[in-house]
Amino acid sequence: MSVAQPLAVDALRVDTAVDIEHVSMRYGRGDAGTLALDDVSLQVGAGEFLCLLGRSGCGKSTLLSLIGGLERPTAGTIDVGGRRVGTMFQDSSLFPWLTVAGNIELSLALSGVPRRDRASRVEELLDIVRLPGTERKRPHELSGGMRQRVALARTLAQDCQVLLMDEPFAALDAITRDAMHDEIERIWMERELTVVFVTHNVREAVRLGDRVMLMKPSPGRMAREMVVDVPRPRRMDAPEIALRAAELHDELDRQERLATRTAEAVA
Ligand SMILES: Nc1ncnc2c1ncn2[C@@H]1O[C@H](COP(=O)(O)OP(=O)(O)OP(=O)(O)O)[C@@H](O)[C@H]1O
Ligand SMILES: [Mg+2]
Repeated sequence: MSVAQPLAVDALRVDTAVDIEHVSMRYGRGDAGTLALDDVSLQVGAGEFLCLLGRSGCGKSTLLSLIGGLERPTAGTIDVGGRRVGTMFQDSSLFPWLTVAGNIELSLALSGVPRRDRASRVEELLDIVRLPGTERKRPHELSGGMRQRVALARTLAQDCQVLLMDEPFAALDAITRDAMHDEIERIWMERELTVVFVTHNVREAVRLGDRVMLMKPSPGRMAREMVVDVPRPRRMDAPEIALRAAELHDELDRQERLATRTAEAVA
């Protein structure tokens, strides 16, 4: 098991879209504070689909919020080269009092799209996420998978080049999730996006990622890099996906055992 830093796979990278250099993030002060990320360096290639995988609390959402510019790191730098960054949050919920169109239009308005162009852009975005004709529906009238598609359309409305996704499909049933994997893969390719996708689900990470970065907690760091050299289209249940997922599972199990031993030693 290699623990390599800096983590670089030159073959994948023509151009770096997200350059993370020695980033640390501490919430709060002193002993009472939490070191959520400790000296993380990572480069995401333009057009790459990168998955961040790790146990709860290892700093995945923190890293996304730093890339998205929602928070500033305590130390280190993050450079997106002026690219537009859109985020689909872990708890991204639609405004229930707005229609599907209203939710997407709000995002278009915030991105400066003139009012006269918004209806056609909404139609186009709903086509992209395969929900044509749902403009006038309200979120409660949609299934969980449909709501996530609208949330994705709302994020794409920002015309982003870098798409950050925080466990977007965690609450979906397996069949809907598989369909969403196909959709996000298609959109990523068609729009030539750079995607940073956070998940707890090892198979999902291997199914989607060009590369998977496994993180470890307390404090959050990069533990392992896996380049997923499996041709697309891929299937969650394909043996080559299962094989690589098993490797990452073993590493997570090791982390779990280490965490238990550390907790026992402290007690
Ligand atoms: N706003 C905040 N204030 C204080 N501590 C925070 C804040 N956000 C996150 N943390 C802490 O930072 C650490 C990393 O949290 P983060 O939400 O990034 O983890 P995560 O890997 O996304 O976890 P999960 O898989 O459960 O979503 C945790 O210990 C968390 O308690
Ligand atoms: Mg999180």
